[in-house]
Amino acid sequence: MTDQVTAIVLAAGAGTRMKSSRAKVLHEIAGRSMLEHALVAVSGAGVRTTVAVVGHDREQVAAAVAAYDPAIVLAVQEQQNGTGHAVHVALQSLGSEPGGTVVVTYGDVPLLSAQTLSELLVDHRAAGRSVTILTADVDDPTGYGRIVRDADGGVAAIREHRDASADELALTEINSGILVVDGPFLSRAVQSLEASNAQGELYLTDIVAKAVAEGLPVGAHVLEDVWQTEGVNDRAQLARLGRELNRRLTDHWMAEGVTIVDPATTWIDSAVTLAPDVTILPGTQLLGATVVGAGATIGPDTTLRNVEVGERATVERTHGSDAVVGADASVGPFAYLRPGADLGAGGKIGTFVEVKNSTLGAGAKVPHLSYVGDADIGAGANVGAGTIFANYDGVTKNRSTIGRDARTGSNNTFVAPVTVGDGAFTGAGSTIREDVPPGALAVSAGPQRTMDGWTAAKRPGTSSARAASTASSEAAEAEPHQEATGE
Ligand code: UD1
Ligand code: CA
Repeated sequence: MTDQVTAIVLAAGAGTRMKSSRAKVLHEIAGRSMLEHALVAVSGAGVRTTVAVVGHDREQVAAAVAAYDPAIVLAVQEQQNGTGHAVHVALQSLGSEPGGTVVVTYGDVPLLSAQTLSELLVDHRAAGRSVTILTADVDDPTGYGRIVRDADGGVAAIREHRDASADELALTEINSGILVVDGPFLSRAVQSLEASNAQGELYLTDIVAKAVAEGLPVGAHVLEDVWQTEGVNDRAQLARLGRELNRRLTDHWMAEGVTIVDPATTWIDSAVTLAPDVTILPGTQLLGATVVGAGATIGPDTTLRNVEVGERATVERTHGSDAVVGADASVGPFAYLRPGADLGAGGKIGTFVEVKNSTLGAGAKVPHLSYVGDADIGAGANVGAGTIFANYDGVTKNRSTIGRDARTGSNNTFVAPVTVGDGAFTGAGSTIREDVPPGALAVSAGPQRTMDGWTAAKRPGTSSARAASTASSEAAEAEPHQEATGE
């Protein structure tokens, strides 16, 4: 029964105070640009057509809009002559007049939710208004447009800070900038705006007084949650809203059954998914499209970006990206999972181990001090401490394979491409350059040579020589019978 809704997202402003080569609306909180937060909110509110108005840094912003949804209409505002002008440009690029309802929102108000936009639309329709403004009562209204109400408390106008009288400046109800308006009225109203104000701009806010003058019903939807109306103009505000959004995300996941020991040092991106009974220890960042299964424990001091962690797995003091950790597997402490690391169920990637573009089968273990690059390690195999997969010959990278239930010795080097067969063993300190058949033992280190008395002969007068001399006389005293039976 809902009429068709068109959204206009304003994102043409300069963002000078960010002092950035990146467009303001492309700065991120919780792993999404502010623009993307705005587009997600609009998509979630049942909007049919969306127009994004771009101007400053238009190539960057237009590319981000198209990447989010190529169906979004792009309107270029060559000169930023004000919010009224921006909406006029948006309507022109639509071709035909929007028949239904129009929502106007900003690309730099990242906490505004789909739910709030939906409630605004519901309120607008239920009250049968021509214009409904989203407003908030704030402690410090500096800079915002003020909501001017008439004697009966009805909305009469919006007065910009720079155009306001002393009495108006004292008003604390502010215009969030977000509003819902009847499409045909909006089309008409933006064509007759005048720039007779302190900034010499075409103000969208002037449509309110216009509607009132025409006797059309105008009202405000007052939002208690003032964070949702806050815009970002500089990096301090970006950090403030970023922390608040993170607080909301950690609250959300705790309500869903996740234990977060220290929400203040836990950062969770918007697109992360956590199952019930996940435990997150302090100092952990879960970023991008990370997914964590039920009962898993992450942290402390762990950063995972686009990592899939299975049920009941543990990932401790680890840095990982674009990797998979199977159910019941364990990673860390101090592990580095690079793109393409894929650890099977119940497997282990232990301390000071780096893994890249490699698969480890179920129950496979690389417990200590190793580099695993471009390798496939079979289920149940154990890779000894201090192993290097020498995947790079200086020109190309090659893969190596370790068979299932193989046992490779400590301090091995596997010179790729090389294959160790199922159930095979390798000796400690081996450099494996040739394939090892299933069930064989390969040993490459030569037999040990021991030269008695070498230190005294070759390093005389050193502390090592003195220690060696002391050790041999102590050994002699410990065996007096030898002396007695000597000469
Ligand atoms: C605007 C409102 C003000 C409100 C405030 C809330 C007007 C005249 N004033 O003021 O009542 O309290 O927002 O933050 O509407 N933009 C364009 N093209 C333009 C001008 C702006 O796309 O020509 C975009 C900006 O990128 C931004 C948004 O519109 O996303 C608001 O513009 P901004 O200059 O920040 O408006 P304010 O002066 O803060
Ligand atoms: Ca602003």
